[in-house]
Formats: sequence, C-alpha cells, structure tokens
Amino acid sequence: MQKRFFLSAVALGLLAAHAGTALAQDTFKIGLILPMTGPFASTGKQIEAAARLYMAQNGDTVGGKKVELIVKDDTSAPDVTKRIAQELVVNDKVNVLAGFGLTPLALATAPLATQSKTPMVVMAAATSSITQASPYVVRTSFTLPQAAVAMADWAPNNGIKKVVTLVSDYGPGIDAEKFFKDRMLFNGGQVLDTLRVPMRNPDFAPFLQKVRDLKPDALFVFVPSGAGAALMKQFAERGMDKAGIKLIGTGDITDDDILNSMGDVANGVVTSHHYSASHNSPLNKKFVAAFEKANAGLRPNFMAVGGYDGMRVIYEAAKTTKGGNGEALLNAMKGQLFESPRGPMFIDAQTRDVVHNIYIRKVEKVGGQLFNQEFSTLTDVKDPGKTK
Ligand code: DHB
Repeated sequence: MQKRFFLSAVALGLLAAHAGTALAQDTFKIGLILPMTGPFASTGKQIEAAARLYMAQNGDTVGGKKVELIVKDDTSAPDVTKRIAQELVVNDKVNVLAGFGLTPLALATAPLATQSKTPMVVMAAATSSITQASPYVVRTSFTLPQAAVAMADWAPNNGIKKVVTLVSDYGPGIDAEKFFKDRMLFNGGQVLDTLRVPMRNPDFAPFLQKVRDLKPDALFVFVPSGAGAALMKQFAERGMDKAGIKLIGTGDITDDDILNSMGDVANGVVTSHHYSASHNSPLNKKFVAAFEKANAGLRPNFMAVGGYDGMRVIYEAAKTTKGGNGEALLNAMKGQLFESPRGPMFIDAQTRDVVHNIYIRKVEKVGGQLFNQEFSTLTDVKDPGKTK
C-alpha cells in the first residue's frame, strides 16, 4: 500500500515536472533588473513603466509564446544585481536579461551573460566600454562619448572657449570628461580644470566655489539621471549664473521627468542628448501621451525611451526566433533598424551598440512648462568610444 502510494507520488511528480517544462517552453521570460529603491529609483520607475507600456501596446504574446516580465529591484548595488541575474538565469531560466540602471551594475553582470550565453539588453547604463564587457550585451540607451563630443563641437562655435568640467567620479563621468576635453582642445578651446564628485550624495558646494574662482565661460557637467536637480539648486545658490558662468552638459542634467521642478535656473541651459520628451515626431507625441496617461502624468525621460526601445529589440528578436534564446536570440537583436520616439535608431551588428541622432537642445518654457527644445541635429552618431 505504502509502496504504491510512493510510486504514484513519483509519477505525479514526474508529470508535474513535465508539465512545468511544457509551460516553460510556452513562455518567453524577460528578467528586468532595475534600481527600484534608493537614490536611482527614478531610473527603475521610468524603465519599468516604459516596458509595461510597450507590452500593453504590443500584446503579451510574441513568437507564439506568452511573455512573462519578471521585475526585480537591485537597490543599485552591483553584488545584488549579479545575484539576482544568477537566480533569473538558473532558476527562472529567463530568455533574456534586461535593465541595468548604472554602469557598475551592468559590468557586474556581463561575465554571467557570457558564461550562460544569455542576451543582456542594457537599457540605461552608458559607459562606452559596457558592450565590450560581454559579446552578449546589446545596448538601447546611449553612450556618454556620443553626447559629450557633440557638446564639445557646439560650445566653441557659440562663444564658449574656456570650460571647467565637473563629473560624477565613475565610468560615464570619466567618459564624459575625457571625450569632452579631447574634443574641446581639438577645436581650439581650453579646459581650465577637470573636477570629479562622488557618484552618491555629492556635495557640489566646494567644487562650485572652485569653478567661480576659475571664471570659465561655462561649466560642463555630467551627473547621473535624478541628480540634476541638486546640481541646479546649488549652481543657483552659489550665484554662478549671476557671475556670468554658463551651465552646459549632457542631457542627463536636464532630465525630463524633474525638469519642471528645477525652476528658473534650468531655463536656457544648453545640453546634448539623444532624447527629449518634446522631440517633434508623431511617434514621440503618441509615446509621451500614452506614457503620461498610464503613469499619472509622469513625463517620460531618456531612461524610459531606453526601456521602451529595449523591449522593441527583444520583441522583434523573439518574433524572428519564435521565442528563442542564447545566440540565436542575440543574433536577431543585431542590426535592427527602426523608428524610436527619439528618432531613427540602429543596433550596430558589429558593436551591438546604439547608433542614433544626437540633438543640441535648449531648455525653454512652452505652455508654462520647461522642455528641452531640440534646435540642431547630428545624424546617425556611432559611439566615438569604440576603437574597433
Ligand atoms: C549612467 C547612469 C545614469 O543615470 C545616466 O544618466 C547616465 C549613465 C551609468 O551609470 O552608466
């Protein structure tokens, strides 16, 4: 009696395991790892909202499989990102890893993508070298060299000859500093000093005092998404604008979702970036309206667009491979060319990095709200940071 019971329990277990496999084969799993809490939570919030919007608009079945989006909070700690990625690959058997709100989080996970042959779609992090950390990385955000070089070409042609740079002291900041400075010097400009502030909770005050003493035409800044408001506030409090020092930077400092809260100090600031919520295209207008409607009026920023386009790249690759994984899925991501809310966008098959337009924008009031108004376009910009 006992033995029979045992046997049937085993049989049932086997059946259940079998059903489990069949079920796994019918689903296409996306493991989305984001900072949902802590100082970079706005990045996670924007990307998750964009991913959910993409699914709402495009359905939750792709390549004949049901899409399962698994969202995990890494609290912006690299060891946590890596552990979660491991669990998603080993236990959940995800087809693809995605998200990666900061460079150290992407770099911590890249070796795992290589070992497990899991495509890894970087939707936020923007240090040039990330795509070289694993052949399984595909990027849908942007690179700091793309944005910084554009600003270093614009500034000296617009009366800004002497600049001090101020960047967050980690990957993207160091890229921004290097590529901005080299190009400024090449264009006959001067970089009087290169200042670096801690990535987390920076106190800008002592650095801004130094900038005042150096009296440059402009201060060029990179800080990660979300930190721009604090920078603006201290820039105004130190009377930098009144001392005749202009503020320029990559578009990370005039982040669309918090731009309105920055107030007058942000008005007139010129930046270079790949996305503005006021980008003038029918597709973008539709995207912004749908995003705001689904998120209680929250304006999408460049992080949202990286997430939205990342989902597009994943969905199309899933279609081509009928819900595949590994190298086949990766190969189907390479070379995708499409219209994004940012404008035309291309995943370079060689570098697996994004090629897109970089816009020069000026913050202006439109209908009582501050927007990054694009006024000049550099088309099809590849990452200048790639050596091959
Ligand atoms: C990175 C993070 C950001 O928030 C940003 O705006 C740009 C780059 C990064 O860590 O790579």
